Amino acid sequence: MTAQIHPATPDAIKKAARLLRDGDLVAFPTETVYGLGANALDGKAAAKIFVSKGRPQFNPLISHAASLEMLLPYAVFDERALALADRFWPGPLTMILPKRADGISDLVTAGLDTVALRIPDHPVALALLREAGVPVAAPSANRSGALSPSAPHHVLESLGDAAPFILAAGATKYGLESTVIDLSGANPVIVRPGAITAEDIADILECAVTYDLDTKEKPKSPGQLLRHYAPGRPVRLNAIDVEPGEALLAFGSTKFMGIKGGGFAKNLPMGAFYNLSEQGDLLEAASRLFAGLRELDKPEHSRIAVMGIPDTGIGIAINDRLKRAADAVAKG
Ligand code: TXA
Ligand code: MG
Repeated sequence: MTAQIHPATPDAIKKAARLLRDGDLVAFPTETVYGLGANALDGKAAAKIFVSKGRPQFNPLISHAASLEMLLPYAVFDERALALADRFWPGPLTMILPKRADGISDLVTAGLDTVALRIPDHPVALALLREAGVPVAAPSANRSGALSPSAPHHVLESLGDAAPFILAAGATKYGLESTVIDLSGANPVIVRPGAITAEDIADILECAVTYDLDTKEKPKSPGQLLRHYAPGRPVRLNAIDVEPGEALLAFGSTKFMGIKGGGFAKNLPMGAFYNLSEQGDLLEAASRLFAGLRELDKPEHSRIAVMGIPDTGIGIAINDRLKRAADAVAKG
């Protein structure tokens, strides 16, 4: 397994950047913790992160880049965001900003209208991100629920067989994840504390900066453990047919799927059908899940019927998310 750890030579960085561009995972050092990276523009690549971490849920992920210029196309930067970028980037600060369409994958943002962005302050991370040329989604490179890795061998120990190519550059400086500040609303709110404090940020913005650490960990409603896109329409799971008024979120072939009153799923009205993966590929389905829910969540549909999805591998995370979507609407 030690073959997976590669000292961060210029050649190894080039190889890692190529892997990222090709849709593969790379673990890399930052000044906070080692990250498990994938091309943030490629939903299928991002889906591999959840498989590798053994995550039973999809959390919105931070996208990393080497420069502000690389991030400008993907979010709306207001004056506050530009001021914080100027002062703290590269550095352990993540900003949540309004998302621009057609950029960062919906799986990376969990279908939200916002994106989380950061420029890490680490020479290897910066060289890798510059060479990759795409924003890189990266949570900490450990199995779900385990400690965050502050050294390359932690990554290998934690991810085991699921460990990807690991770019190694010794221990990280902080060993603690970045501060996350939400700038998508009128008032800046810290949703995850880190090395950069509310006072540090308030000094730059010259306004009050508050902490809101409850909504994420201690949700108001049990179905909403994490911030996610929540459909407005009711969701019906394990559908084997489609009832009048329903839209269909399909998985795999729908050729033989009857609709009440005759016909086939493909005869549904325009806009009432979305197939997560015609081939029945779970990675592809995961990458299209939030986009599919959004697409079908329209007032003209009374409900979203969802075909059964195998409860294995990343299918577990897909089903977890769908159950939450069904429960959230049922509870109002
Ligand atoms: O230090 C770090 O930030 C490390 C290194 C690798 O850069 N990365 C990291 O990434 O911790 P991740 O993806 O695990 O952190 C995600 C955090 C979570 O607290 C998540 O809820 C929040 O950012 N987050 C991401 N996107 C969000 C969004 N659109 N709205 C609200 N919270 C978001
Ligand atoms: Mg983590």
